Amino acid sequence: MADLRPNEILLTEAQIRQRVRELAEEIRRDFPDDLHLIAVLKGAFMFLSDLIRHISGPVSLDFMAVSSYAKGTTSSGEVRLLKDLDTTLDGRNVVIVEDIVDTGLTLLYLQEILRARNPRSLRTACLLSKPSRRQVNVKVEYTGFSIDDHFVVGYGLDFAEQYRNLPHIAVLEP
Ligand code: IMP
Ligand code: MG
Repeated sequence: MADLRPNEILLTEAQIRQRVRELAEEIRRDFPDDLHLIAVLKGAFMFLSDLIRHISGPVSLDFMAVSSYAKGTTSSGEVRLLKDLDTTLDGRNVVIVEDIVDTGLTLLYLQEILRARNPRSLRTACLLSKPSRRQVNVKVEYTGFSIDDHFVVGYGLDFAEQYRNLPHIAVLEP
């Protein structure tokens, strides 16, 4: 890890703050009454906490944990469910809150298992998307920023569990 350090700032705190607020308002507009957010741990924790602060009115939340990356920057394509939900989704307007869509494999898996639980609607909010890396066709209704193919850290995103604390998004380069 010593030879991998975040350098270039891709998205500043101010840019993220502005965009997250816009996403929150858009989600609230689409679901003015019932709204249930499901954040994907651990990467989405900071996005969720900022997002939910800008959603006024009734909203509930739950957490799921999945693992798709081993130590490193390449996807294994294998998704494991590490923590399931505490409550049912029956009849709820559910929005998955995810940090980043890369190949799309993780999100596709999540959407499949959550759709099977009969939510009234199911949508997805991702802070970041790397469209050039997509391996499967997965629908994302709310995207914060589309970025080029860089491995990024900060604002919840990690490399080997480090850098989640950065308040901005930085590119991790060798
Ligand atoms: P996917 O299944 O390939 O779409 O990968 C999704 C998951 O991989 C994300 O939820 C992240 O946890 C992780 N991931 C993908 N790209 C990055 C990155 O650039 N930085 C940090 N984590 C990433
Ligand atoms: Mg994630």
